[in-house]
Amino acid sequence: MILAPSLLSSDFGRLAEELLALEQAGLEWVHWDVMDGHFVPNITFGPPVIKALRKRSRLFFDVHLMIAEPERYLEAFAEAGADLLVVHAEASSHLPRTLSEIRRLGMKRGVALNPATPLHALEYVLPELDLVLLMSVNPGFGGQKFMPLTYRKLADLRGLISRSDSQALVQVDGGVDPGNTAALVKAGADVLVSGSAFFNFPPYAERLGVFAKAAAGA
Ligand code: DX5
Ligand code: ZN
Repeated sequence: MILAPSLLSSDFGRLAEELLALEQAGLEWVHWDVMDGHFVPNITFGPPVIKALRKRSRLFFDVHLMIAEPERYLEAFAEAGADLLVVHAEASSHLPRTLSEIRRLGMKRGVALNPATPLHALEYVLPELDLVLLMSVNPGFGGQKFMPLTYRKLADLRGLISRSDSQALVQVDGGVDPGNTAALVKAGADVLVSGSAFFNFPPYAERLGVFAKAAAGA
């Protein structure tokens, strides 16, 4: 199980220190929740902030675009140093074109689905994906309650992936904590995003260990 801490719950006034602390604690991924105030009510950060932190961190930058018209910003996020770019199926009218552009720009490709969006929204692009992000909360905020419908959707996605010989990793994002980690890993999650249940419980190395122990119990 890969744990990807969501910076949305980190101290924005000390992002460089937070990223260093994650690296020193043994994390390999970090999850950037990019929000534009249109696709979701909140506004967070964009390419200039990610670019500034790129030279300060060796972590894998998993960039979750909760923005309208993501195709307008692919080049900017590639230039900022995103390693993985995840666009919402609900925000992309031409997904195949967007995904080939993300690959042309040298980034890994992911598609995110909001809780009620059916899996078949990504069925025909699944073989091209490096990752599928299942939202387990309504996007826009940290600290929300995990939605149990995610378990069935996760199992259904696993079935879809095995039938389409896709290599996509499955990521679950929202309301994840050590209490639901084992069930999520058992249901087929490869990557777990955690914001509040991670950053609110320092020291980070110990907190990583709590998640890892929970995942091992799956
Ligand atoms: C919500 C974001 C999530 C969120 C996770 O729109 O996509 O990544 O920050 O935060 P928690 O773990 O606190 O639900
Ligand atoms: Zn996210």
